[in-house]
Amino acid sequence: MIPFLDLKAQYRQIKPEVDAAVAGVIESQQFVLGPQVAAFEERFAAYCGVKHCVALNSGTSALHLALLAAGIGSGDEVITVSMTFVATTAAILYCGAKPVFVDVDPGTWTMDPKLIEAAITPRTKAILPVHLHGLMADMDPIMEIADRAGLVVIEDAAQAHGSEYRDRWAGSIGDIGCFSFYPGKNLGAYGEAGAAVTNSSDLAHRIALLRDWGQESKYNHVLPGYNFRMDEIQAAILMVKMRHIESWTEGRRAVASRYEQLLARHQFKRPAPPSHSRHVYHVYAIEVEGRDQIKKALGAAGVGTGIHYPIPIHLQKAYAELGYGRGDLPAAESVAKRFLSLPIYPELRPDQVEKVVAELEKAVLVGAS
Ligand SMILES: Cc1ncc(COP(=O)(O)O)c(C=O)c1O
Repeated sequence: MIPFLDLKAQYRQIKPEVDAAVAGVIESQQFVLGPQVAAFEERFAAYCGVKHCVALNSGTSALHLALLAAGIGSGDEVITVSMTFVATTAAILYCGAKPVFVDVDPGTWTMDPKLIEAAITPRTKAILPVHLHGLMADMDPIMEIADRAGLVVIEDAAQAHGSEYRDRWAGSIGDIGCFSFYPGKNLGAYGEAGAAVTNSSDLAHRIALLRDWGQESKYNHVLPGYNFRMDEIQAAILMVKMRHIESWTEGRRAVASRYEQLLARHQFKRPAPPSHSRHVYHVYAIEVEGRDQIKKALGAAGVGTGIHYPIPIHLQKAYAELGYGRGDLPAAESVAKRFLSLPIYPELRPDQVEKVVAELEKAVLVGAS
């Protein structure tokens, strides 16, 4: 069996460090927004190459508070993509704003900058690109358009810890970068957690206020806020994991490069990351015809796979009111039918990668016959 994800393999490596960190928090009896959270904020801001990090209870909260802190509200429009996890769209709607979808570039599966200008209206306030699967969106043209039009840029970096674009880290190029530390992420907590990073002390201050009931000091509420705080146990675990993140990222990249070698003789479409980018392979996906059958065959052969994502958000029933239909975003719709995510984690051995590819080849042959 080769599972799609094996979190236990990682825990086995770092068990003594994690267990000691968790025990330390319990011993301290300080559970929310304490010294571990403060230490993690400092560490993660430095990792992203920014001045501030505000630790939160999820990536969804990071997007939600980033938008609120940037002043996005009722009647505003936010340009984003529909080939993403639902949270990107949901966060825009939580603020009373309207998501406006542009299609993805079929070569990278991230926001196509060529389509942004036509989507701008007098109500547009922000652009929210998603660094899908760990490959950063094409940020230079996005920032140029935003500068010209006076728009805020919020990066959804939930899948892109440590990803780079022309020597700049994910989360550090736009006004605010939003991260998820959901357990399966490249940097995963042991529960829910997230963070917003920024170079703006004003935005960081507002996000910090909003996460803690808008309190400037105890019981002095200067903004209507939320309970979106990070807990100390998650911060302590994330601090342990920060010691390993770079070697894990390189491990993922090594697995991806083995897939690339083995798949070189096939025609499966997948992004060729530009030389100026560091893809961190939160997901290693390919496009395959007859995806559902191939996925089933791989499952029967003991190879776990995923689909990220099978239905683009503009075609989800929950968001029908936004008024989009089939054919509106052809690139997103086309990849959604073909996406297949193969197992990838730093602990995946070369012989396991070979087995995945051998089973994939068998399944494709059977499908074609
Ligand atoms: C692209 C993207 N955005 C936002 C989120 C939301 O993060 P969380 O699950 O921590 O709320 C995720 C998490 O899956 C994600 O993949």
